[in-house]
Parts: sequence; C-alpha cells; structure tokens
Amino acid sequence: MSVIGCGYLGAVHAAAMTSIGHDVVGIDVDEPKIQALAAGKAPFFEPGLPELLTEGVASGRLRFTTDMSAAAEATVHFIGVGTPQQKDGYAADLTYVNAAVDALIPHLKPGDIVAGKSTVPVGTAAILAERVAATGATLVWNPEFLREGWAVQDTISPDRLVAGVPSGAQGERAADVLREVYHTAIATDTPFIVTDYATAELVKVAANAFLATKISFINAMAEIAEVTGADVTELADAIGHDARIGRRFLGAGIGFGGGCLPKDIRAFSARAEELGRGESVAFLREVDAINLRRRDRAVQLVVDALDGDVYEKKIAVLGAAFKPHSDDIRDSPALDVAVKLRGLGADVVVTDPEAIENARSRHPQLTYAERDEALTGAHAVVVVTEWDEYRRQLSPAHASSLTAGRIVVDGRNCLDAPAWRAAGWTYFGMGRP
Ligand code: UDX
Repeated sequence: MSVIGCGYLGAVHAAAMTSIGHDVVGIDVDEPKIQALAAGKAPFFEPGLPELLTEGVASGRLRFTTDMSAAAEATVHFIGVGTPQQKDGYAADLTYVNAAVDALIPHLKPGDIVAGKSTVPVGTAAILAERVAATGATLVWNPEFLREGWAVQDTISPDRLVAGVPSGAQGERAADVLREVYHTAIATDTPFIVTDYATAELVKVAANAFLATKISFINAMAEIAEVTGADVTELADAIGHDARIGRRFLGAGIGFGGGCLPKDIRAFSARAEELGRGESVAFLREVDAINLRRRDRAVQLVVDALDGDVYEKKIAVLGAAFKPHSDDIRDSPALDVAVKLRGLGADVVVTDPEAIENARSRHPQLTYAERDEALTGAHAVVVVTEWDEYRRQLSPAHASSLTAGRIVVDGRNCLDAPAWRAAGWTYFGMGRP
C-alpha cells in the first residue's frame, strides 16, 4: 500500500500498517521529513512510533520517498494529508487533498483502492470519486479517529472502522479490501461500519463536534461554578456517574486545542452554512467561543492573583503542547495563555517536556527553559498542560524551594489542590472555589 502524506496521521498509519504485515511506501513532499522517516526516526513525538518505524524500515517492508511514482507498485492508497483551516475563513483548505489526488491519479490502475483518511467537508468524497473512477480505481472514505499520544494504539486497535463506499458490487469489493487491510482489528471484533460517502465523512466531524461540545459544556458549567462558589470537578464526577453522560471529556480547564477539534468544528460550521443548514450547528460557534474564553479566564486568574499587575513579574508557564504525550502546539491553549501573559508585560518562561522546539519556532518571542529553571524566582506558576512531570512529579515543596511567590493557577484542574494549599500555596483552579 501507499500512504500519501506522512504527518501525524500518515506516518503513524504507514508504520502501523507495516507492523500488521503489509508492505508500505510512505510518500510526502517534505524532503527532510521523508529523510528522517527513512532513517527510522519519528519527525514528531508520538509514543511507540519510533519503535515501529525502526522495525518497519529494518524489515524492508516500510519505505519512504518523495517520489509519487512509487505509488504505482501499490494497490491500496491512503490519503492522509492535512486539511487545515483556511487563512481567511473557517472552511477547510483542501489544497493538499486535491494536490495529493492530482499527483496520485497518473499512477492508479484499474482495481486499485484509494482510501481517503483526511478530515474533509461532507461532499468532498463524491467529487473526488469521479476523478478516481476515471482511472478504473475505486474511492473509499475511511476516516481516522486517532488521538495524538495514543495514535499507534488507536490505529492498530481502533474503537471502530468506517468505510464510506460507492453503491453496488464495486463498493462491496472496496469494503472487502479494507477488511483485508484491517484484518487484525476485524479479527478482534472491531466494529466495521460500511456506509455511503456522506455518512462516513460526517461520522468524523460529528464525533469531533460532539467531543468539543462535551468539553465546552463542562467549561460553561465552570463559568457558572465561578459565580456560585460551586466546584466543577465535583460536578463533573457526579454527572459523569450517569452512564448516559460518562466522565470522559468532562475535564474543565483552559479547553481544547490541537490540529483537529478547533478547525474541524469551524469547518463543519462553514460547510453547514454552504449547505443552507448553518442553524443546525450554530451551537458550534458557542462551543468555540466558550472554549476561547477559558484561556482568557486563566490569564485573568493570574493577573488577579498578582494584584492586577503582571508587568515584569516572572511567570512560569508549565506546558506548551495542546495536551500531554504530544509535541503538537497547533492551536495550543497553553501557548495562547503564555502569549497573552507576555502581551501584558509579564516575564514569561515556558517549559514543556517535548514541545519546546516546536513552540520556539512558532513563538520565538517567548523565553523557554527546563522546568526547574522556569520555576526559579517565579512570582506565579501556571499549569497549562497536564503532563505527569507537573501533576505527579512536581511536589509543592520542591516548587516552593525554587519560586519567589506561592501562587499557582491550575489551568487543567490536574494538581492535588489540598497538597498545594497545605504547602503554603494559594491555589486557583478553573471553575473551582
Ligand atoms: C481529537 C479526537 O479525540 C480524535 O478522535 C480525532 O481523530 C482528532 O481529534 P486529539 O486532537 O489528539 O484528538 O486530542 P484529544 O485527546 O481529543 O484532546 C483534544 C483537546 O481537548 C486537548 O487540547 C485536550 O487538552 C482537551 N480536553 C480533552 C479537555 O480540555 N478536556 C477533556 O476532558 C478532554
């Protein structure tokens, strides 16, 4: 098989598919990325990926190239390129998907399967299908649900597999090919849902919209908790016991970021408007607005805690990645908080176990340091990514030995608040008294 696009999605897909027995060529236009991958090195932090790459490359069944003609040897082609938010609007930018399909088409043969994994606006697959069909190949829409940090596991043992196929015998055959591709997951009874293109495309955006809504729901409750003295964490525990609600994704804090949820809900709104159904998902605008407000709330907590003035105060920002177990800083709430504090004149020092390099190239104006250096002399500490390095391994006593002040703002509600208070800290959570 070929995997076109070797970013967070494609590189993991290529390595994971090799690990379950396939012969894979990963193709990308980014030469340095391909060189790293070909040398068995992961170009980003993803637990388990380096091992799979090393094994795959050593086995000779995993290759990487910038030469699209290598796809000619494959019979199944995965499209895993990015669909970022457009620069001047909310809609998805399909430039990379279209370019990947354009480049692939000359190498397709009758009977080949092209499986789209990128998250696209509903209706995209139907347009691409006609172009693919002209070569005698068949297009399948096979959305990817992997979470960064668990990408290898999510790819090899997903919660479900979805295949959007054309109607008739061609579609049935295409579904059978995907069943062979994912034979290990299917053997362990992973649900395999065969549907039409539009449903497959919508499953992905609907899942992400639901997850984003769940997070913003609990963050909206945090806002109410803040004016009533309630504790949103206890509230989440209590409602989460209802199996219909569930506790997962009810973590209140500075909200969601990353390369998927923010841009996917915006692209969904934009697409719904194009379809004349903007009102159906108008609530996603609120979901987005609640989410962005929480970053401001964290900044305000720091400012208030420092008596209204952060100018030239040293603030240790613990975290830069949009979530732990990732070095991804795309739309990171953590970095947004750091940038905003610096904008207010604070002397911000950012630390992160994995994401400093990415953060520095995106925000060179910020200062970066190892954890303890960031803490040294700080007037306030803000936890914005819930890495174990901060929530478990950093004791309040150790932090006290380094900082100048005893103010901690827990932007992820991840610290042991009583322990920090007992050690003399003034603790501020998000939506907690
Ligand atoms: C998400 C979806 O989970 C995945 O299925 C899809 O394929 C891609 O988008 P990912 O972006 O890796 O995956 O991150 P996820 O683990 O979903 O977290 C998203 C954001 O929500 C993070 O910034 C995280 O910190 C935040 N979050 C998550 C909360 O603020 N509260 C929670 O309770 C859970």
